[in-house]
Amino acid sequence: MSAQVQSGRKTVRDIAAAKGGVPLVCLTAYTAPMAALLDEKADLILVGDSVGMVVHGLPTTVGVTLEMMILHGQAVMRTSRRAVVVVDMPFGSYEASVEHAFMNAARVMKETGCQAVKIEAGEYAAATVRYLVERGIPVMAHVGLRPQATNVDGGFKAKGRTEAERARVMSEALAADKAGCFAMVIEGVAEDLAAQITQQVACPTVGIGASAACDGQILVTDDLLGMFDWTPRFVRRYADLKSEIGKAVDGYASDVRARAFPGEKETYTLKKQP
Ligand code: KIV
Repeated sequence: MSAQVQSGRKTVRDIAAAKGGVPLVCLTAYTAPMAALLDEKADLILVGDSVGMVVHGLPTTVGVTLEMMILHGQAVMRTSRRAVVVVDMPFGSYEASVEHAFMNAARVMKETGCQAVKIEAGEYAAATVRYLVERGIPVMAHVGLRPQATNVDGGFKAKGRTEAERARVMSEALAADKAGCFAMVIEGVAEDLAAQITQQVACPTVGIGASAACDGQILVTDDLLGMFDWTPRFVRRYADLKSEIGKAVDGYASDVRARAFPGEKETYTLKKQP
């Protein structure tokens, strides 16, 4: 019995077996405390390269490095016990050749202990998916809107709005599925295209801005928690943490300025002598 099975962690096989069943709950995490909070509640935790924008303030995910992904992957693995953890391969770490992709993906797997990697899969990437899977690295594909391609696409634009684009997204999805990905993120496509892909691929589809027609859903956790003033239309906010944090910090600042913090309870005093 493998260590993973003994420890009770789900595997990519469990994720693949969820096709057509109860929708998969997937969320992003980049830190140990957030992974601990999500672990019992999510089937799959993605250490997304969205970390570059959400945590590091980058304008896009293009500047994210392999080292950043490994560091955040290690943090998430330290406190998660149950969910499948997938680490994103950042821009420039898997496109040049299948060998280059394997070396970098193997490094991510070894140094983080995660269960799988995710790659943004244009049609050319099917060869990479196959190469990695055949060599023991489970791959989650990402089709539709591919954030790492924003410089080619001229921004973050929904995909599949013309016939040619629909055909391209469909053939990317079919190619990645045939190549052996265990699951597939579909981002930013219309409901009917997401439904068609979901019907035609063997692996479960996980939608983000791709309707309820998918086999599961993923959101950037900070978006659903309400950490930002602006979120894309497809996000539902389940909390307003930005204003809660603002209120808490205002309270602290006014207590400090009024010398009301620290008080007696928060202050050390000399031990009473016996
Ligand atoms: O990087 C990321 O967080 C992602 C999800 C939004 C799917 O790719």
